[in-house]
Amino acid sequence: MSKDASAGAVRQILGRYIEVKDKIIEIGSGLGWFAQLVPDYIDRIQQTEADPKLVEKHKSLYPKSNIQVVDVNNLPLPFGKHSFDVALGLNTLDELLDLEYALMTIGRTLDTNGKLVHFRDLVGSPQSLVPIDYDRGQYAPFPTFDKEGYSEGIRLIRWDVAQNLRRLDTNAKLIVAKYLEDPEGWYERLAASKQALRDLSDIGVRLSSQAPVIRFDEYFLTNFESALRNTGYNIIDSGKIDGTSIVDKSPALKIRNPKDNIYHNDVGRYRRKFDSQLVGELVPNKVKLVATVQYLVAQKDTSFWAPLEARVTMILNLLEAAEKGKVSAEDAKKMLKDLSSGATR
Ligand SMILES: C[S@@+](CC[C@H](N)C(=O)[O-])C[C@H]1O[C@@H](n2cnc3c(N)ncnc32)[C@H](O)[C@@H]1O
Repeated sequence: MSKDASAGAVRQILGRYIEVKDKIIEIGSGLGWFAQLVPDYIDRIQQTEADPKLVEKHKSLYPKSNIQVVDVNNLPLPFGKHSFDVALGLNTLDELLDLEYALMTIGRTLDTNGKLVHFRDLVGSPQSLVPIDYDRGQYAPFPTFDKEGYSEGIRLIRWDVAQNLRRLDTNAKLIVAKYLEDPEGWYERLAASKQALRDLSDIGVRLSSQAPVIRFDEYFLTNFESALRNTGYNIIDSGKIDGTSIVDKSPALKIRNPKDNIYHNDVGRYRRKFDSQLVGELVPNKVKLVATVQYLVAQKDTSFWAPLEARVTMILNLLEAAEKGKVSAEDAKKMLKDLSSGATR
């Protein structure tokens, strides 16, 4: 339902930073939601996705789609250097196992002044748990929910505290004992059931209400910004942006209070309310949808990438020369050593 509103938000950023001539690669396209939001961009977007099963399903839905299996945490990518002007992702980079590695592989496919544009319209997902860097084995991750009831992150409970089950009833003891056998695996499996995560969250509070909480959204943004700095990108814009649309008050909106006239998806947090100011603006039986999207735009920093790319080219040329016997194996070895220690820069 909120497709037009989300598209409105995304379009404002694309309009600001993407030119008509730009070639675009999308990372983690999944079932093609981004292309559905902006179908007029589809000819310019090379869709990619790591999961071959999703790619198969994607192709069965959209037989004409150009989607390819590409895992940005796995070299080599099937595209040469400088193949694209822009890399896009929607709810993708927060799920990557190794964000810095991915930013390097993506950077190589981007042109000299290439841009990276990432959008999020979902609250951090439990999958974000995997890339979170915490002391595994020392701490057990328990889910946490914010005041409005949305999954917000993990409570890190010291392993010895989590194993101290005296304060729990028999049922909770059994749940925790099972959970501690493989917390991350169970967390992922339980993610399909909000109630199961909530039960686990309540147990976590009972075990250690003071334990530190890592919030997915904050963690991702901080991590994303530092990963971008470490891999030679300058952040040129970042924030939240709204898109809106006016639609019929249909059952698809899952109306609870018939008076509500504004439905707001604020990066995965759904709020419905009655806004008296909208009464004059909306004809009867219409409601306003608002979608807030979090975005970040970064650009390759040439002072970081140019010398790096020059060295990679030199290494590749040297390997080719050695292969063709133009350079002796011994000389090639010595030159490679100099190159990798930066001596020839
Ligand atoms: C939350 S889904 C979002 C999918 C789609 N962009 C959307 O908004 O509907 C994240 C996607 O990233 C993909 N992904 C995860 N790790 C990846 C990687 N290393 N390389 C490429 N895609 C990856 C997942 O398979 C999944 O399809």
